[in-house]
Amino acid sequence: MDMMPRSSKPSPGQRALADALARGDAAMGTAITRLPARNYTDSHRFAREQGSLFDRLPLLLGPSALLPSPNLAVTHDDYGVPLIISRDGDGQVHVMANVCRHRGTRLLDVAGPVPATRIVCPYHAWAYRADGALASLPRAECFPGLDKAAHGLTHFPSIESGGLIWFARDPGADFANEAALAPDLDAFGLAALHLYKRKTHAVAANWKLVIDAFLENYHVQRLHAATIAPFFADGITVADQIGRHQRAAVGRADYLSEIDRDDWPALRRAVTYTYQLFPNSVVIVSPDYINLLIAMPQAVGTTLVEDLMLISEAPQTNDAEAHWRRSWDLLDEGTFGTEDFGAAALGQSGLESGLIDEILLGTLEDGVAGFHARIEAAL
Ligand code: FES
Ligand SMILES: [Fe+2]
Repeated sequence: MDMMPRSSKPSPGQRALADALARGDAAMGTAITRLPARNYTDSHRFAREQGSLFDRLPLLLGPSALLPSPNLAVTHDDYGVPLIISRDGDGQVHVMANVCRHRGTRLLDVAGPVPATRIVCPYHAWAYRADGALASLPRAECFPGLDKAAHGLTHFPSIESGGLIWFARDPGADFANEAALAPDLDAFGLAALHLYKRKTHAVAANWKLVIDAFLENYHVQRLHAATIAPFFADGITVADQIGRHQRAAVGRADYLSEIDRDDWPALRRAVTYTYQLFPNSVVIVSPDYINLLIAMPQAVGTTLVEDLMLISEAPQTNDAEAHWRRSWDLLDEGTFGTEDFGAAALGQSGLESGLIDEILLGTLEDGVAGFHARIEAAL
């Protein structure tokens, strides 16, 4: 039984893409694009991307389902910053430094979620509330004149919108682009979904090679011949942008022209929507579950990719568990882990040989060209 509050219709943008697919307006460029091979291998380029993209823009941390109820906290380290993500007693999300204000000790050392009514430092037991406020310290008289209100945990700017949690390192970051995704994400009921499973893959490839694989359909019938290829038509994709993010729809034009495109469940069975959340994440919407992929660069040729699968509710029976487990294995292990990330690692290996100067993007790979153009514009 599906108890999930969920929109009964697509957002205007989702509907417009479905209409374009039904008309057969497949997104195709008209010319070959060439990119320098060193964009994937040059450490100076990597440092510029860190400075211009990852140190400045909003970055996806995960779904709201990371913190399914008030007064919980999780840790997050894979962007190279030790973070606590918490939900306070009022349901508000906070993203804070996982560093004690007394003498700098790491506060939480488990992934969580853990109860966060009081987050207690292991060293001298300074205690913080879920919103980061300093609640108490032992022998407070030993800190004469300490302004407790000024010694809460350091906050980063953050937003929870449409069922996703974002943060930025830049205190002046603007989240308007991320808030603009809400009508689309709300149409999938993302905020009410249950986190079924998550896994972080270590991939020996530049972060952009990981993302590139989700921006073109050209490889689906080839690389994924043994897994998901039968579910997709070859190369039938349309795409547009929500601010700097990309929205794409893949489907079968012949089938789409026959269904009622106002029937959202029917449309969701016929069309796969994917979102490239700039710069480093992807949302893939299957008919009854959603995967988030977050590519977190560690070095020019090394990326941690977290895969999180969301379903409507926690499995209630062994059959339900086995059903979701098959979907997880098909995508996380087979399609992403083995095929897409495997191809990214082979790509890195080939590019690092230095034996080709440029890569070619054909007309079916326009999504990749657009992604790299948006990166170039941000650098
Ligand atoms: S370092 Fe945290 S209480 Fe002392
Ligand atoms: Fe793929």
